[in-house]
Amino acid sequence: MTSTFLIACQIGNIFDLKIEEIPILCNEKVKIKDRTKCPANNLYQALDLRSGFMKGSKEIKIKPLSTSDAERAAEIYNQSLQYLSREKEISEEKMKEFITENKEFFLGAYLNNLLVGHLLLKKEGEKGLDIGIVIDPKYQGKKIGSRLIKKGIKLARSKNYKKLVVDILEYNSPAIKFFEKNGFKKTGFSKRTIVKKGKKTKLLRYAYNL
Ligand SMILES: CC(C)(COP(=O)(O)OP(=O)(O)OC[C@H]1O[C@@H](n2cnc3c(N)ncnc32)[C@H](O)[C@@H]1OP(=O)(O)O)[C@@H](O)C(=O)NCCC(=O)NCCS
Repeated sequence: MTSTFLIACQIGNIFDLKIEEIPILCNEKVKIKDRTKCPANNLYQALDLRSGFMKGSKEIKIKPLSTSDAERAAEIYNQSLQYLSREKEISEEKMKEFITENKEFFLGAYLNNLLVGHLLLKKEGEKGLDIGIVIDPKYQGKKIGSRLIKKGIKLARSKNYKKLVVDILEYNSPAIKFFEKNGFKKTGFSKRTIVKKGKKTKLLRYAYNL
């Protein structure tokens, strides 16, 4: 850890600043948008952010998942079950199957070697891919999802796919905002209706032309 960073944290502590208000962290390259306060008493969280984000998120690596990631990948997935169309938790074994079946189309985002999110692109129709994306709640809002989507778009283009589609539960407004921000357009509703906690729920369909 650098002494300038520690000094910045201490200044933040004295004035009770949020992390983005600490001048040293506020330059163009950093763009930290976390609302977390950054005093010394919360230093671990601050350092966690610093380690991944001070260098423009360079510590985030995106690569295909391996079967040894299955347990962690399932854990991340199951934490966000209320936002996903699947009703029941996914097991490590099932996740292993998905990883084996989808190979290069199942990407993981790693922060200093810790898996923090994943993106699955599954064939949909002739020339389309259907998206499934989940970020560990602890690491949401830090542009990791956007990095994964951009990588997915590149991959799909390189394989000559023409379209990405995603079905979003109608109450999942964070995901709606996320996909709109990443250039997806609403095309209507999915033909599927999902029963979530005993209630029929519609799925909005969004698409991205490659
Ligand atoms: C949706 C999800 C993948 C977004 O990933 P993320 O890494 O947190 O998103 P990013 O940091 O890249 O956000 C990019 C943009 O999306 C929007 N966004 C993301 N999270 C948001 C939230 N909670 N509320 C409102 N807008 C949000 C914002 O416009 C944001 O840009 P901004 O920070 O400049 O305003 C993540 O929240 C998640 O895993 N949710 C649970 C699972 C899920 O819903 N998956 C999609 C199923 S269809």
